[in-house]
Amino acid sequence: MTASVSSGPAVPLKTLRRISELRDEVAGWRRDGDSVAIVPTMGALHEGHLELVRRARDCCARVITTIFVNPIQFNRQDDLSSYPRDEASDAAKLSALGVDLLFAPPVEEVYPKGYQTRVSVPDLSDCLCGAARPGHMEGVATVVAKLLLQSLPDRAYFGEKDYQQLLVVRRMVRDLDVPVRIEAVPTVREPDGLALSSRNLLLTPDQRARAPALFRVLRALAARLEGGEVPAAAILGEGRAELAAAGFEPIDYLELRSGDSLRPLERAEPPARLFAAAWLGPVRLIDNLEIGPARGLSPQRHG
Ligand code: PAF
Repeated sequence: MTASVSSGPAVPLKTLRRISELRDEVAGWRRDGDSVAIVPTMGALHEGHLELVRRARDCCARVITTIFVNPIQFNRQDDLSSYPRDEASDAAKLSALGVDLLFAPPVEEVYPKGYQTRVSVPDLSDCLCGAARPGHMEGVATVVAKLLLQSLPDRAYFGEKDYQQLLVVRRMVRDLDVPVRIEAVPTVREPDGLALSSRNLLLTPDQRARAPALFRVLRALAARLEGGEVPAAAILGEGRAELAAAGFEPIDYLELRSGDSLRPLERAEPPARLFAAAWLGPVRLIDNLEIGPARGLSPQRHG
């Protein structure tokens, strides 16, 4: 069953905090034969998140959005405490898009006292953000596995901005036989190219003016690599120097890797992808760009 986006004034969004309530709600939808999509988020919703919601809305009768600032995917306490939070404003945006349910559990509901289990996907997690932020990918895989098992949706939506996360989630779902289809949605950008991110809210005006250099450098490198220039290591070195000149310090990584396996590449052989993470003051920005003709990740059925 496909539902259309609701029109008219936004109504207060039904918000649940308990896993048992979420399960009861979904069970009722299932009895009515409705399909279910989930859009996991950590809140501070921007157009990128709303695009995930719209895609979900187009495909499934019922849409759940989750807001949970997952403590176990933060490797720095200051990053966790400064993460932007505004549930009331997020709920209004979701309600306007016709989301059926907001699931926003407290930390102790997700990780009760004595909680032990972690889900890890080592090969895909040990590089890029996984290397720069120890424990991050394991924290993501764990919470996404829990949210999927709590809601048992037909489809779950993730943005390509967090491309490594997307690959980790796909692999986790495949390895654990979770019966859900993972849908990838292209990165939404500001007109100047900056990838939308909740962290953009933390940029000062000066940092915001510098931030688009991240995508500009990725695009320039992609054009050179697509033109057959080698070796990638030398080209990436020049890219790092350009980022440093634009004010990024430190640069966690600027790398060319396979878009499937994340293995490092010496040249732009398909499916090659550029990955970058770098800091402007206290704000860490990430971005990535496919090399070559637009291919994107096609939807895959798992489980
Ligand atoms: O991308 C995010 O916002 C988070 O990593 C996710 C997928 C909601 C897990 O906490």
